Amino acid sequence: METAMRPIIRMTDIVKNFGSFRALTDVGLDVGEGEIVVVIGPSGSGKSTLIRCINQLEVHDTGTIEVDGHTVTRGAGLAAVRAEVGMVFQSFNLFPHMTALRNVALAPVRVRGLSWDEANQRARKLLTRVGLESHAEKYPAQLSGGQQQRVGIARALAMEPKILLFDEPTSALDPEMVGEVLDVMLQLARTGVTMVIVTHEMSFARKVADRVVFMDAGRIVEQGPPEQIFDAPRDPRLRSFLNAVLSH
Ligand SMILES: Nc1ncnc2c1ncn2[C@@H]1O[C@H](COP(=O)(O)OP(=O)(O)OP(=O)(O)O)[C@@H](O)[C@H]1O
Ligand SMILES: [Mg+2]
Repeated sequence: METAMRPIIRMTDIVKNFGSFRALTDVGLDVGEGEIVVVIGPSGSGKSTLIRCINQLEVHDTGTIEVDGHTVTRGAGLAAVRAEVGMVFQSFNLFPHMTALRNVALAPVRVRGLSWDEANQRARKLLTRVGLESHAEKYPAQLSGGQQQRVGIARALAMEPKILLFDEPTSALDPEMVGEVLDVMLQLARTGVTMVIVTHEMSFARKVADRVVFMDAGRIVEQGPPEQIFDAPRDPRLRSFLNAVLSH
């Protein structure tokens, strides 16, 4: 059946300008249901802009985006998209005056109309899933960066999204906390949720990705399975990017 093969995200000919600067040029990207796509590329290449267009944190100028069959064209169709797409940011964006539990339970109550009882129960399960069962009553300032980011992931999961977007979820963390967040993401990747991840963690990308997408100067330059991208890169820009990041 053709419908069974339909990508859950379909971006076609996307152009995004910031003033006179073109951040995305004719970007086309299809992501299959349950697929894990990792986006890599130099600073300023448009990685964040690309994934922010998926949930319309940035509104593209031309081209079309479909999310699970809903067309999101220049900001229209937003509600349908927001219901299905969760996002985890580099900075955790937790509410500082709310406990971890409340941070996770809030949106299901406000947006979905769950009772606090039910939302709290579910939030506790999610905090357990990210290894934070004993930290539910703490405020963000009482948690490490890695723990805060795991709360951020639990918060995204609380809305039961079909798609999770991650924009450099570990780049604000001290090195010793990166692993615990990547471990949670690896577990999630095995649950069948669709993930699009921007990261500079190349060994993680190799481990988790079904497909790696390399961007440069607002375009997708090369994409393929991790073995192809990391072991047999074709485009010279990808080769020099990998030389630069892997030599550290
Ligand atoms: N709100 C904005 N206003 C103007 N220019 C912007 C805006 N957001 C992004 N840009 C520009 O668009 C280009 C792409 O930015 P983007 O944040 O997508 O890059 P990136 O690949 O995520 O980089 P990094 O690895 O540093 O996060 C950059 O040149 C950036 O300066
Ligand atoms: Mg970015």
